[in-house]
Amino acid sequence: MRGYALKIGRYEVPYPVIQGGMGVRISAGRLAGSVARCGGVGIVASAGLGLDNPKFTGGNFFETDALELKNELKKAYEIAPDGIIGTNCMAVVTDYADNVRASCEGGAKIIISGAGLPLSLPKLTEDFPEVALVPIVSSVKAIQLIVRKWLKNYQRLPDAVVVEDPDTAGGHLGDKLENICSGAYDQYATVRGVKAFLQEAGGDHIPVIAAGGVWDRNDLLYALEQGADGVQMASRFVCTEECDAADSYKQAYLECTQADIGLMMSPVGLPGRAIVKNIPNIHQHDRDAEFICPVKCLKKCSYRECGERFCIVHALNRAQHGNVDTGLIFCGSNAWKADRISTVSEIFTELFEIGSVDLDVRVENG
Ligand SMILES: Cc1cc2nc3c(=O)[nH]c(=O)nc-3n(C[C@H](O)[C@H](O)[C@H](O)COP(=O)(O)O)c2cc1C
Repeated sequence: MRGYALKIGRYEVPYPVIQGGMGVRISAGRLAGSVARCGGVGIVASAGLGLDNPKFTGGNFFETDALELKNELKKAYEIAPDGIIGTNCMAVVTDYADNVRASCEGGAKIIISGAGLPLSLPKLTEDFPEVALVPIVSSVKAIQLIVRKWLKNYQRLPDAVVVEDPDTAGGHLGDKLENICSGAYDQYATVRGVKAFLQEAGGDHIPVIAAGGVWDRNDLLYALEQGADGVQMASRFVCTEECDAADSYKQAYLECTQADIGLMMSPVGLPGRAIVKNIPNIHQHDRDAEFICPVKCLKKCSYRECGERFCIVHALNRAQHGNVDTGLIFCGSNAWKADRISTVSEIFTELFEIGSVDLDVRVENG
């Protein structure tokens, strides 16, 4: 079998697994550090961190968001001082530029950016040329747009590309609701299409990473066989001791069936994949609540603009804290496969059939 190592920008990643960013503290410093310590890429998701900072007073979300992002990066590096640790920054959030800046200042080696096209990412990181830039796309057209713009304006190519499959991935999805699971999408045809385009654009060294539905070693080997250079896995890391979510959040994964996982519309205007059985409760919670938007976290939000749907940052935050009745639990289509709480090192051991001695990185609680 070929060597597994993956090169992203100037960083050599021992195992070709990126832990997908999971917003509002599902993947914070502890999970990211633990994955990086096992030899994968650990990703702190930047979305919604500010709500839990002790200095958050209601009106200073953007400030506390940036502070928390740096705190979580610090925690991750305490676990894996030499690890490959980065952040996930979503283009749809109001403080996108601040998140990117805080990522660079906090020592992120990689910024993975989707939920909108990260057209300005090279500009926002121009003082930090060592930071690898990785767009997330769901189509060849999207990467063509990004690459043409980046080449024209910044003479820069991406350092890797994540191709996220709307039919299987968790969280916000990059296609219209009616197109998802319609049979129109072919995950690995898109991976190969993106690879072919990058080669034409002079980037045959650029790794293309498949995201969505990768759960076990067979899925990983299949992805590599189908032309991906690595995988991004998110849902699989939720049921680990090191995941930053509350125990009842992890329990919701353990208890969910395939029929509980579905699509919903987010107030940002994008569809998302989640455990959907409690979505009516989330709507009801915000219908009952006094209409408030203390943080204006999204550039475009139907809840803020006209009270439609619900406040997503608070719904995700409630879930992260363990309120699974009125909290939003994003998950990929394979989350029903979770059957126990393991450790991150156990997942790596299974994925790569390696001795757990090499990866005995059990992290202390807290
Ligand atoms: C709980 C959860 C939260 C997520 N949050 C984000 C996020 O903040 N930003 C983002 O770009 N992707 C987010 N995603 C998508 C993942 O990073 C990843 O690409 C996708 O879920 C991969 O599919 P998998 O979960 O089947 O492995 C999230 C996914 C989950 C399951």
